[in-house]
Amino acid sequence: MLYILDTADIETIRYCNEYYPLAGVTTNPSIIAKEHTDFWELVTQIREIIGKDKMLHVQTTQKEAEKIVEEAKLLKEKLEGGFYVKIPICEEGLKATMRLKELGIGVTMTAIFTPPQALIAAKAGASFVAPYVNRLDNIIGDGTEVAAEIVRQLGHYGSDCKVLVASFKNAEQVHKCASAGCHCVTVDPKILKAVISHPMTDAAIKGFEHDWTSVYGDKTILDL
Ligand code: E4P
Repeated sequence: MLYILDTADIETIRYCNEYYPLAGVTTNPSIIAKEHTDFWELVTQIREIIGKDKMLHVQTTQKEAEKIVEEAKLLKEKLEGGFYVKIPICEEGLKATMRLKELGIGVTMTAIFTPPQALIAAKAGASFVAPYVNRLDNIIGDGTEVAAEIVRQLGHYGSDCKVLVASFKNAEQVHKCASAGCHCVTVDPKILKAVISHPMTDAAIKGFEHDWTSVYGDKTILDL
C-alpha cells in the first residue's frame, strides 16, 4: 500500500513528509485553488519538499486533448521527477492519455466512479486510475466496493495500471481499500492521523509509562 498526501498546504506537506512514509502528493484544481497563491511557486515548493523521487500528481486545467498534452509536457518539464498529470475520464482525456503514453509522461485518470471507466482508462495507458470513494459513499454508492471491483478487473486482465483510491473521509474506507488490494490511497492529514490512532494504543502507552516510572522514576534508558 502506498500512502499519498492529498493536499497542497505547504506546512502540512512538510510535516507529514517528515512523520509519515509518504509516496508523494496529489492535488486537483480545488486543492490548489484553496491555497490562493501563485501556482508555479506552490507546485515547485511541493516538489522541493518531497524531492524528485516521490510522486507529484497535478491535474490538467485543459479540456481538449492537444492542450492537455501541451500542459502535461510543461508540467513534466518544470516539475521533473516522479510526475503524473491527472486527467478526468472523458473522450478528450482518453485521447490525451494515449498520446502521453507514447511520450512516456505518466497519467493518473481521475474522477473515476465506475469499473468500466477505470478499465478503459487503463487500456488507454493510464499509470493510475483514481476512483472517488467518499463521493460514491455519499450517494450510497459503496465506494470501497467499486474500488475493489476495479482492482479485481485490472488484475483479471493483467493490467499494470495501479488503483490510486481518492476521496476519503474516514480510516474505515482506507482499511477496506487495503483489504481489497488497492495499490495506493491519497488522503488528507486527518485520515493519516486516524489510521495510526486507537484509544487502546493510548492506554497501552500510558500503562508502559506508569509501570516504568514506578520503578525507575523519570529516568529513561538513556540515563541508566
Ligand atoms: C484526488 O486528489 C481527488 O481529487 C480528491 O481526493 C477528491 O476528494 P474529495 O471527494 O474529498 O474532494
